[in-house]
Amino acid sequence: MANLLELHNIHRHFGSTVILKGVNLTLQAGEAVAIIGPSGSGKSTLLQVAGLLDVPDAGQVLLNGQNVAALTDDARAGLRNKTCGFVYQFHHLLREFTALENVQLPAAIGGSKPNHARAQQLLEAVGLGHRLHHLPNQLSGGEQQRVAIARALMNQPQLLLADEPTGNLDPATAEAVTDLLFTLIAQERMAALLVTHNQQLAARCQHVFTMQEGCLVPYKPVRPVKPTAAKNLRKAPPKKPARKPAGA
Ligand SMILES: Nc1ncnc2c1ncn2[C@@H]1O[C@H](COP(=O)(O)OP(=O)(O)OP(=O)(O)O)[C@@H](O)[C@H]1O
Ligand SMILES: [Mg+2]
Repeated sequence: MANLLELHNIHRHFGSTVILKGVNLTLQAGEAVAIIGPSGSGKSTLLQVAGLLDVPDAGQVLLNGQNVAALTDDARAGLRNKTCGFVYQFHHLLREFTALENVQLPAAIGGSKPNHARAQQLLEAVGLGHRLHHLPNQLSGGEQQRVAIARALMNQPQLLLADEPTGNLDPATAEAVTDLLFTLIAQERMAALLVTHNQQLAARCQHVFTMQEGCLVPYKPVRPVKPTAAKNLRKAPPKKPARKPAGA
């Protein structure tokens, strides 16, 4: 199968600090990949490069086989708008726009006619059919996150990039958002590149990588210790209470 996204030897530095030191990754249509790693290790930086929001200092990004370095800024922005859906680490919903208007933004940016029906359908799919006309500051954190997911899907992207999509959510909402994400990934037949600290979310991806010293390395989870000796550690049965002497 053809690769949807290829990252070859990606380097990125800010001033004298080198963040990405030769990242390689391929992602096929329909495949979900998780990236984990410590804070500051470069996960968001990599996602921005993969989602064509940032340009690497060295290395190649190929989207559908096309080397994006060969494109003008406008052409790259157009390709990003058409192919990629981005869920930012901090939502980035526009404050003065309602949920419905925020979701429609990628279509408007792409020059399409307003498509209320699709935006509404997506908001209903993320359980926000009753919050269409709310402004971001009238929504809870989990609701804002779900609006951001709906917005990322507006243009039916082939590639969903999500930066901590369950960050800042309580465990129950995180689980609901994870279920929703994987349902939508399957329904819309997207590839997904997900940055996460959430083990449950990572476990549902086909591949998990960790960002280590500026490179991606396959993640090997630490196996839980087998409870072999558990039966030997059983507590001694509680002693029977001493019988009171008759007549006491
Ligand atoms: N535009 C920038 N200018 C200067 N330094 C930057 C810039 N963007 C990122 N950095 C630095 O690059 C490093 C990696 O940042 P990045 O946001 O990619 O980390 P992260 O792995 O996503 O962390 P977190 O888990 O906290 O979100 C950080 O030390 C950050 O300060
Ligand atoms: Mg980050």
